[in-house]
Amino acid sequence: MQIPMRKLRTLAPERAELDPIEVASEGDIRRLQAERLSWSLRHAYDNAPHYRAKFDSAGVRPDDFKTLDDLAKFPFTTKADLRENYPFGMFAVPQSQIARIHASSGTTGKPTVVGYTKRDIETWSDVVARSIRAAGGRAGMKVHVAYGYGLFTGGLGAHYGAERLGCTVIPISGGMTERQVQLITDFKPEIIMVTPSYMLAILDEFRKQGIDPRKSSLQIGIFGAEPWTNAMREEIEEAFDIHAVDIYGLSEVIGPGVANECVETKDGLHIWEDHFYPEVIDPVSGKVLPDGEKGELVFTSLTKEAMPVIRYRTRDLTRLLPGTARSMRRMEKVTGRTDDMMIVRGVNVFPTQIEEKLLAIPALSVHYQLVLTRDGRMDNMEIQVEALPDASHPAREAATAELTKSVKDTIGISAAVTVLDPGTIERSVGKAKRVIDRRPKE
Ligand code: DLL
Repeated sequence: MQIPMRKLRTLAPERAELDPIEVASEGDIRRLQAERLSWSLRHAYDNAPHYRAKFDSAGVRPDDFKTLDDLAKFPFTTKADLRENYPFGMFAVPQSQIARIHASSGTTGKPTVVGYTKRDIETWSDVVARSIRAAGGRAGMKVHVAYGYGLFTGGLGAHYGAERLGCTVIPISGGMTERQVQLITDFKPEIIMVTPSYMLAILDEFRKQGIDPRKSSLQIGIFGAEPWTNAMREEIEEAFDIHAVDIYGLSEVIGPGVANECVETKDGLHIWEDHFYPEVIDPVSGKVLPDGEKGELVFTSLTKEAMPVIRYRTRDLTRLLPGTARSMRRMEKVTGRTDDMMIVRGVNVFPTQIEEKLLAIPALSVHYQLVLTRDGRMDNMEIQVEALPDASHPAREAATAELTKSVKDTIGISAAVTVLDPGTIERSVGKAKRVIDRRPKE
């Protein structure tokens, strides 16, 4: 068997290249976190009226925080708090000190607005630079940034981080897929930063133009902003002969660069715990769960000035794991959000579970959508998935039967499977829309 090129490359940074805190002892990390948490709780209480009112009504004061366990006494923050304080009510510094504003579009209602001081932008650049380095990036490499620029934090977040690391940035943003391929071919970047679903659209375009994606200059892809499975990682790594590494973040906490996988292990994302303190809670009771148990991820910012967040409920589901390639704890790849969970005939299902199943079938592509409908009181799910271009008619029929069976046997739902022609499912430029919910609104 031919050994893929990516396995021969050694991209992991040397210990001396890392920030000292990345390899600090657990005790040192916890001490720094306790010190910074104490500052952050005090800063929020003193400077953001929303937090003062919330802490007061919960009967807690910043001085009640003495050890890390005391954080559980403080109230959670949710997206609703940001919406109620739209646009700038969560800011803890005067407007004159706000250097940048970003916002996430949100599918319903008002956008979620976030602000940064100059120092926050520095912090953000540092954590994204650290993330790119963890993915195997180095000063001098060219970074093709195809995350969207603008109010979305993906493009500018990646941009500033890549610049901070000393890379050459190619700020192409999302869209114009033909041009993405042309510039990758002509500018020869080593790194691409993009959503995994848009990377698939770029892959289609390479093939359409008859260019072998494995021969491109790319060595590393840093993919995030939406859930993607290890099966999708294998698919992309194989197609491009690159390392595909996961980056996580959310605008409320800072943007991309809250956590990142290390290229040498690819075993979950190290959380940059010197700036973001993670907890995992039971999403129903709100109780803090021990490391290793799966639940909803919650973050408290440790250094953010413009918009501190205290116990922000991300709605992302994961578990905390001990450090490996770095001392800081890891979060398991996010498999879904509490709000993408579908309940089909009483069974809880996430799109990533279906993704894993369909990627195990050779005749099927990674392009899929889940359509939910209601028939009386019963919910139905249709899995629409494109066949690979070279899949024969019998192979497509067999794939339909195989997917129906594997979803039934392992997830426990009866879904209708429709195998479509290549190119029929709309491609996303940013985050993919996996679920089309046609059920009547309650
Ligand atoms: O998506 C920030 C980002 C940009 C992260 C570029 C990574 C790369 P928001 O638009 O606020 O910010 O959306 C945040 O996206 O709560 C997760 O549900 C999801 N998400 C982000 N990264 C990942 C990931 C950006 N690696 C929301 N895996 C988060 C799974 C992710 N889901």
